[in-house]
Amino acid sequence: MKTLFLLMAALILMGCQTNQSPSNLKENATFPVGTAIRAHQVVNDSSMQTIVNKDFNSITLENGMKMYAVHRSPNQYNWKHVDDVVRFAQQNYIRLHGHAFIWHSGTPGWISEMQPDSTMLDKIMEDYILTYGSRYKGKVAGWDVVNEALLDGTGEFRKSIWYETMGEGYISRAFELAHKADPEAILFYNDFNIERDTVKLHAMLRMIEKLKAQDVPISGIGFQMHIRMDTDEKTIEYALKKAAETGLQIHLSEIDIIFNKHDDTPGGGIQIHDELTDEMLQAQADKYQWLAEAYIRNVPPEQRYGMTVWGFSDKYSWIPSFFDLKDWPCIYDEDLNPKPAYYGFLRGLGTSK
Ligand code: G3I
Repeated sequence: MKTLFLLMAALILMGCQTNQSPSNLKENATFPVGTAIRAHQVVNDSSMQTIVNKDFNSITLENGMKMYAVHRSPNQYNWKHVDDVVRFAQQNYIRLHGHAFIWHSGTPGWISEMQPDSTMLDKIMEDYILTYGSRYKGKVAGWDVVNEALLDGTGEFRKSIWYETMGEGYISRAFELAHKADPEAILFYNDFNIERDTVKLHAMLRMIEKLKAQDVPISGIGFQMHIRMDTDEKTIEYALKKAAETGLQIHLSEIDIIFNKHDDTPGGGIQIHDELTDEMLQAQADKYQWLAEAYIRNVPPEQRYGMTVWGFSDKYSWIPSFFDLKDWPCIYDEDLNPKPAYYGFLRGLGTSK
């Protein structure tokens, strides 16, 4: 009886050990591990603050640093939320990643209402990036300077107001200005689906080679990495390898992994799974682990800017509202408890040691 009791106690202990993280995400990796957050979450929400401080050493403001959030009208800037988050990051020794200077969806309405010609729009861009980048010089480690400039499927330039008004040169101009504002900051081109759409990937790589040949100060590539459980792993590996061959910093900048599908448009969710099963949770854990391992396998240590999840809790994921889709993309559940995905990610990160 006593032997049986001891055996059971040992088994319970072993079970606890496999479920218990050896430490936390950030200490289990040799590169920064980040999360997107909303300003109020790190200013007012102590349960969110606790998790951010425990697991992450890099943060990205999910929306609060976008142009529409800081430059709401001409000649007027709203720095409050950014200042709050800078303070939080500094007090807690957390890296702040800037997202994003120029993004078609982040552009405030007053710009198109003005119907600017190329000279006017160039001046708007110049004032904005120099004012903003200089204000946070030394406080923001890296910037997504240009976000989502290319189209899926063809890799052509997106017909944003920036492209339509200033031509392709808006991209190099944005990087030059960002570099002038903060010469130490790491400057990224950031996009989605480049891990799965090889036409778009190669268009991006050609664009980056051209920028480098022109001595444009680009220093990183951001893979948003909004993936699905069935996103092809060989293609992801290929994309990471090709991107790493540029020698630039590589950031997995907006990671989440969904079970269902969508067509990339607002409201375009395709509900396949209504309920979350244990098998699905385990498969998601394996996918998070695999993704961390794939990053470590394909990106040399000196190019690892980090892996950032686009929010850590299913409670705040952008997916349900954007795609009108029920899903569970994150590593913590809606009650802020770590999911199997958390432990999968933790195991994957641990292979960097
Ligand atoms: O804060 C208001 C709230 O007061 C209002 O009641 C509510 C009603 O719609 O809207 C709230 O604002 C929303 C905001 O997210 C905060 O939840 C905006 O409508 C909504 O458009 C905004 O969506 C964000 C989206 O970018 C557009 O900026 C998502 O949170 C954010 O996750 C998403 O992030 C983007 C990255 O920046 C770039 N890559 C793709 C990624 C996902 O779309």
